[in-house]
Amino acid sequence: MKYFEFVNKTKLIAGKHALEQLNYQCQQYHMTYPLILTDEVLIEVNVYSQCIKHLSLPYITYSHIPVDSSIHIVQDIVNLYKDNNCNGIIAIGGGSVLDTAKGVYLMLSQEVSSFENIIGFENLKKGKDIPFFAIPTTSGTGSEATSVAVISNPDKGIKMEIISEFMQFDVAFIDPKTTLNLPLKTTASCTIDALTHAIEAYTCSGKNPVSDAYAITAIKLIVENIHQVIHHPEDKESRLALAVASYNAGCAFSNSMVGIVHGIGHALGAVCHIPHGDAMSMLLVPSMKFNKDQCKDLYGELLLYIGGSELYARTSKEKRSDKTIECIETLLHQLHIITKLPISLLSIDDLKNYIDEIVEKAMNDGAMIVNEKYVDYQDVIDILGGYYGY
Ligand SMILES: [Fe+2]
Repeated sequence: MKYFEFVNKTKLIAGKHALEQLNYQCQQYHMTYPLILTDEVLIEVNVYSQCIKHLSLPYITYSHIPVDSSIHIVQDIVNLYKDNNCNGIIAIGGGSVLDTAKGVYLMLSQEVSSFENIIGFENLKKGKDIPFFAIPTTSGTGSEATSVAVISNPDKGIKMEIISEFMQFDVAFIDPKTTLNLPLKTTASCTIDALTHAIEAYTCSGKNPVSDAYAITAIKLIVENIHQVIHHPEDKESRLALAVASYNAGCAFSNSMVGIVHGIGHALGAVCHIPHGDAMSMLLVPSMKFNKDQCKDLYGELLLYIGGSELYARTSKEKRSDKTIECIETLLHQLHIITKLPISLLSIDDLKNYIDEIVEKAMNDGAMIVNEKYVDYQDVIDILGGYYGY
């Protein structure tokens, strides 16, 4: 067994009444005057009010976090926190809110005056203790469980990926009330993002036995519950299961890494402004077909969880990896028919005009390094060009 490290310090509170624990947990962590971070949409659709319904503490709220947050927003929030002498952070939202909160937390706990001072994350040591809670409202990014945050620096025109175990949340609350009214297409897109986290975590070169356990649990929960959620979006049990799957997939990839689907997907998002989960839905199958010769055995193992025990038992070892990819293709088509989830790169207008730019960006993405199979420029062109099918 190879040397590995695994970090997950976050206490998970999951269930249909998890949010009712928020006030008690604030007391347990000595949080008496929190700064709550969220976005305007969550206030509009009443998810924010559901989350704070049981909070009987004084608090202040910052809700101007956009989809693509920046270091300037992080700085504004840090100033607000200090000006009001808050003593804890509660982040309510999807990836952008949770990642912004991690940036705020890092600046406060590391006691730095500028975000630039925490770049060079490999040198970070444990900072000041600040109670730090997450309430995720999408079942996809798994940000509530990861040591990763993506925050843009508009001055340099780049998205910065910050990785540090010292910005993990203390407590994450997973309650189906936060995802119950997510539109079906968003649900499908986020779920495929989580599924991709799990599959890439299980098959990339950074995998380890502990991340494998989280990845497999995530895959099982997704396969067992996605159809029920799509046909009965009001089903709290299944919504909860997908949210727990997303958390598990986050734990898995935060401790192993991802791979080529994310490498090309990040570039596709940056160049063509494709939502992250949609990019995953378009790239997962072509990328698995590209990886297949190198990941044959691992893809074959996943058939047990993706296709079920009967299909696994009646499929010869030789054919299991193909069957796994076939099952994922079928799932994507079903989601496409019901939710209009885009699953083909052909749905991107003028893709061929952007291929050079996408390939350039993808090849510089850190996720490519841990892809189990070596990837070169022509491989990315082939995937984008449909050589591995759409
Ligand atoms: Fe992702």
